[in-house]
Formats: sequence, structure tokens, C-alpha cells
Amino acid sequence: MGLLPLAAMTEQARSAGSTTPQVLRRSIPSSGEQLPVIGLGTYQALDVGSGAAEQAPLLDVVRALTDHGGNLIDSSPMYGRAESVAGDLVATLAARSRVFLATKVWTTGRESGIRQMEESFRRMRTDRMDLMQVHNLQDWRTHAETLDLWKTDGRIRYTGITHYHEGAYGELEKVLRARRWDFVQLNYSLAEPAAAERMLPLAAELGVAVIANRPFAQGALFSRVKGKALPAWAADIDCASWAQVFLKWIVSHPAVNCAIPASSKATHTVQNMLAGTGRMPDAALRARIAKDFDAL
Ligand SMILES: NC(=O)c1ccc[n+]([C@@H]2O[C@H](COP(=O)([O-])OP(=O)(O)OC[C@H]3O[C@@H](n4cnc5c(N)ncnc54)[C@H](OP(=O)(O)O)[C@@H]3O)[C@@H](O)[C@H]2O)c1
Repeated sequence: MGLLPLAAMTEQARSAGSTTPQVLRRSIPSSGEQLPVIGLGTYQALDVGSGAAEQAPLLDVVRALTDHGGNLIDSSPMYGRAESVAGDLVATLAARSRVFLATKVWTTGRESGIRQMEESFRRMRTDRMDLMQVHNLQDWRTHAETLDLWKTDGRIRYTGITHYHEGAYGELEKVLRARRWDFVQLNYSLAEPAAAERMLPLAAELGVAVIANRPFAQGALFSRVKGKALPAWAADIDCASWAQVFLKWIVSHPAVNCAIPASSKATHTVQNMLAGTGRMPDAALRARIAKDFDAL
């Protein structure tokens, strides 16, 4: 009861011939390209120095992402050294062709935006960014013009707009309706579920892919469940940890393409990637998970 059979989902759960369970994929509406439902955030987690000792555990993080069929790495010039470290890690693993690089523009003014984006290409060591997003709506009209030109030129593959707080949803809705975007990135989790009211249905209506940021409310979700045993229904959806419950609840929303938990630990990243495999909760079980979580 309460389970969505895999056969009923449009995603593929395993890549052909692989014995490692592969993360589910969903189509990007504007292209049909399949995107794994779990990616990797880089805020704080990848903001380390350039030394081998500091980067070694993070190499295992990116390896865990790609070994489990994940590919999206989300960064921003706002995240200290994270863009550079992501570039270093991907280069060391010779993984550029296997990752989907997403970053952001976070400044005001056309020239400043261009300079910042050029720097992001350099830091992430790529001449083609898979996804360039306007961070927190900042000067979005100006940057959108550059993004359109660069998309036409093939320098970026997709455009996006982000925010992290429901207080901005009204403005975000106007921006989404004002022009064509490939992606919207916003906060969505059991602690911050408000996007499901208007924003997720709007994204589905407009054919805009959704990236869910802050999937653990920056770690706060773990404090809520500290010392609490997993409910019995967790086993029915193949969850061995609260992290997997939190992620499955997000990615089982039909409008969500991808959740991007940040982690500095490979063990956590493996756990997170496995949340994109196996049985997913249906609408009834999603409602029950939310109710049980609120009662904690
Ligand atoms: N405006 C925007 O565009 C915007 C705003 C916010 C976030 N974002 C994006 O969304 C990403 C995710 O959000 P976030 O970084 O704020 O927070 P988050 O992913 O909700 O939470 C990260 C925290 O969860 C912990 N964690 C990860 N996996 C775990 C696991 N399996 N078990 C236990 N703990 C685990 C991490 O610690 P460990 O390192 O110990 O694993 C870290 O402390 C960001 O990194 C960024 O890429 C974008």
C-alpha cells in the first residue's frame, strides 16, 4: 500500500548492464534530455583550498555521484572557492563528459555579469556550461539577455533562475511568466514545503525543469529527527536513513527534476544517491510522511 510501482514511472532505474543501482532520471521539459533526480550542491561542502589533502575526500564525493549515475553539480560565485574546487575535482577525475555543470551569475550590470560568468567558465574549467542560472533573481532582466545570446552561441546549454526562500515566490512567479527559462531552482523540503502550493504546479504548466535546493534545509532536518527511529513505512520505500526519506519525498513530486543535497562526505553522498533508486512514495504516502514529520 502507498507505493508507486517503478513500472508506472517514466524514469529508468538502472542503466543497462550495470549492477550498481542507478539513480532515476526525469526529462528536462525544454529538451527531453534525461537528468538524474539526485545531484550535488556545493555550498560550504566544496569551499576548501586547492591542496590535495583537502580535496581528497571531495574527490570521493564526486566519484560517488558519478558512480551512481548522478551528474549535476551546482555551484555559484557566491560559494567561495567551490567553483574552482568543482573544476579541479572534475578535471582530476577526467569526468567532464560525465557531469552536468551548473553555476550562477550573482552581480548587477551587463559587463559585470559577463566578467563573472567568464570567470566561472575558467574556474570550472569548461568552455561550455550546461546550466547558467541567475542567482536569487539578481538583475535578472539584464543577465537574461546575455544568457539568451550565449545559449544561441552554444556557450551555455540551459538557462535558469534561482531563489532559496518562499518570500520571493511572488517575484519568482512573475519572472517565470515574463520569459522562457529552462530551469527554476528553489527551496523545497519537508521543512520548507511551500513551493508545492503554486511554484511547482506553475513550473509544470510552463514546462520548466525544477531543481530543489536546500533539500535538508541546510542540515536542519537532521536535528528534527535526531534520536528518532525510522517509521515502519521507510522500509516500504527502500529507505535505510532519514536522508533518504527526505530526498525521496522531494523527488517523488512529479514536477521536480532533481534535488541537490550538498555534502563533504562520500558516505553521505552514496546514501543520497541511493535515494534516487528503488521504490518511491505515491501521493498518499507523501502526505503521510509530511504529517508524521510535522508531528515529530
Ligand atoms: N539561491 C540559490 O541558488 C541557492 C540557495 C541555497 C542552496 N542552493 C544550492 O542547494 C544546495 C543544497 O543546499 P544547502 O547546501 O544549503 O543545504 P542541504 O543540502 O539542505 O544540507 C547540507 C547539509 O546536509 C548534510 N548532509 C548531506 N547529506 C547528508 C546525509 N546523507 N546524512 C546526514 N547529513 C547530510 C551536509 O553535511 P555533510 O557535509 O557532513 O554531509 C550539510 O551539512 C547548495 O549547496 C547549493 O548548491 C542554491
